[in-house]
Amino acid sequence: MEALRQELDDLKASALDQIDQSADPAQLEQARVQYLGRKARLTAILRQLVALPPQERPVIGLLANQVKQAIEERIAARRTALESVPSDEVLATDRIDVTLPGRWPTVGRLHPLTQIIREICRIFAEMGFAVIEGPEVEWDYYNFEALNIPEDHPAREMWDTFWIDPTSAQVDKPMLLRTHTSPMQIRIMEQTKPPIRVVVPGKCYRYEAVDASHESQFHQIEGLAVDEGITFADLKGTLYAFVRRLFGDERKIRFRCDYFPFVEPGVDMSIDCFRCKGAGCRLCKMSGWLEILGAGMVHPNVLARVGYDPARYTGFAFGMGPARVAMLKYGIEDIRLFHDNDLRFLQQFP
Ligand code: DAH
Repeated sequence: MEALRQELDDLKASALDQIDQSADPAQLEQARVQYLGRKARLTAILRQLVALPPQERPVIGLLANQVKQAIEERIAARRTALESVPSDEVLATDRIDVTLPGRWPTVGRLHPLTQIIREICRIFAEMGFAVIEGPEVEWDYYNFEALNIPEDHPAREMWDTFWIDPTSAQVDKPMLLRTHTSPMQIRIMEQTKPPIRVVVPGKCYRYEAVDASHESQFHQIEGLAVDEGITFADLKGTLYAFVRRLFGDERKIRFRCDYFPFVEPGVDMSIDCFRCKGAGCRLCKMSGWLEILGAGMVHPNVLARVGYDPARYTGFAFGMGPARVAMLKYGIEDIRLFHDNDLRFLQQFP
């Protein structure tokens, strides 16, 4: 019995040792077969327990099973350890090649509309205009009423309007998505005294079908200058300087009478086509001229409405669509391209 006990102890020691020494799963499996397999010495001892004298059987039986359990546990632990270590093969093939050049991250850029809006605002800022923004959800009062467009005035049809549902908005006055940036003329004049020189970039909304030159959400840039002695010549001179900065030194401008309720006289302004130099081409639809904005002298009714004395103060105003300006400047034929998010289009504007 002593000899058997000694043998089991030795068996355990050498098994645990070999398991710890095994360098990969194959060697570990070899050790398992050697110590726990069908032909292993331990298996033979366990199988022959019945042949032992009755008083030795429980002692040796207990010891042999403890040895077996210890070996099994050590194998399981070693297997886990070996699996978490990458093999030599993996280490050889998975090596990181530090000489490979890195991949350039894609660098974003400003959207072409953002670029043109900033460029336009910068030009006016350099001429002394402040840049101010205003609310996109607006009262009827500012969008129409105070701009000399009373309720039921036929001119309201110039702007197809998205109205805000008064019950859901819990308001008792008509509210809308602004159809132009002109309401900011009123808000600014209400809050300041002349002299005023501002440009107002911002989003506007119209209940209109979308096509190649119209979107229901779009940008405008409004301009307003009010002081004593401002004349139509100031309007012309300012816009002339602006156009030359944006479209080049040789540009000519042309004013034609147009109607907007908040100005008198009202005009639209065109520049001579820079593509064909006025000879007539597809861009200018053979007219030689490109229309870029509406403008005029602020209507006395509008000045009076905000408490300015129309006998003392005069002013000019203008409003333009930067998308149209960008389309003309870059020869873009469809306004929808701006919001299609096609990188091939957007990447052309570095
Ligand atoms: N608000 C006008 C529109 O959306 C554009 C405009 C015309 C603005 C004449 C002005 C102006 O300030 O004087 O159609």
